[in-house]
Amino acid sequence: MEHHDKQSPFSVQGLTVAYQRKPVLEDVSFTVPEGKLIGIIGPNGAGKSTLIKASLGLIPKVRGDVLIYGQPYAQQRKMIGYVPQRESVDWDFPTSALDVVMMGRYGHLGWFRRPGANERRIAMECLAKVGMADFAGRQISQLSGGQQQRIFLARALAQDAKLYFMDEPFVGVDAATEKAIITLLNELKKQGKTVLVVHHDLSTVKEYFDWVMLLNVRLIDVGPTESVFTAHNLQTAYGGRLAILDREPESLAALSR
Ligand SMILES: Nc1ncnc2c1ncn2[C@@H]1O[C@H](COP(=O)(O)OP(=O)(O)O)[C@@H](O)[C@H]1O
Ligand SMILES: [Mg+2]
Repeated sequence: MEHHDKQSPFSVQGLTVAYQRKPVLEDVSFTVPEGKLIGIIGPNGAGKSTLIKASLGLIPKVRGDVLIYGQPYAQQRKMIGYVPQRESVDWDFPTSALDVVMMGRYGHLGWFRRPGANERRIAMECLAKVGMADFAGRQISQLSGGQQQRIFLARALAQDAKLYFMDEPFVGVDAATEKAIITLLNELKKQGKTVLVVHHDLSTVKEYFDWVMLLNVRLIDVGPTESVFTAHNLQTAYGGRLAILDREPESLAALSR
């Protein structure tokens, strides 16, 4: 489509998604630049997770199209790392932390190739990067929420993707883990990777993200944080809950906590 930018890691045109015929995303279009850390912001039920899942073909869309570096998702799987929202994962699944991280490497293996020593080495390096090397053999069900989050981050790193989607990676993690994760995200950015992060803590948006996508069923605004993360836009996104406010985003953030 002519509106798509071939160089963009992630370009969406006219995306509409519905559950049981109720639209939860309506006619969403945007194009994001490469090498940015992008926050996806909006109230509960705004369709943030749905945007990611529909873009990755995990749920059907009503209409619209999504291009990853100019191609449909099916042709670009290897380019994408995805960290799902923690509550959507079955943590009782009997598998070790190392296995979870190795799964990140499957896209790099050919048919009938089992992960070997090289894959294991890469997986261990990624576990070390998130401070979880000592837990490689541990069942994922026996890890704390923050540790599970780190394992999923290690898996995304192991994928060596160019475009990352992370759905609320800071939920249920302590302050130290949050710092570790944001440091890693900035490292990915320095390597030219593009990282989209669903985020709900308005108080850290300005500090963490270069770009912001404000969503509430419809796309309210998207662009550099300083131009999008405004009191006016936040009122539009969060509606009545913050409607009495017309002050700086900082004071909105304080109230949203
Ligand atoms: N599997 C589903 N079946 C029906 N409705 C769903 C399903 N998943 C999400 N929804 C609804 O779609 C809307 C958007 O959900 P979601 O994308 O998870 O929002 P967010 O991630 O922004 O909190 C919500 O109203 C939610 O209740
Ligand atoms: Mg969500």
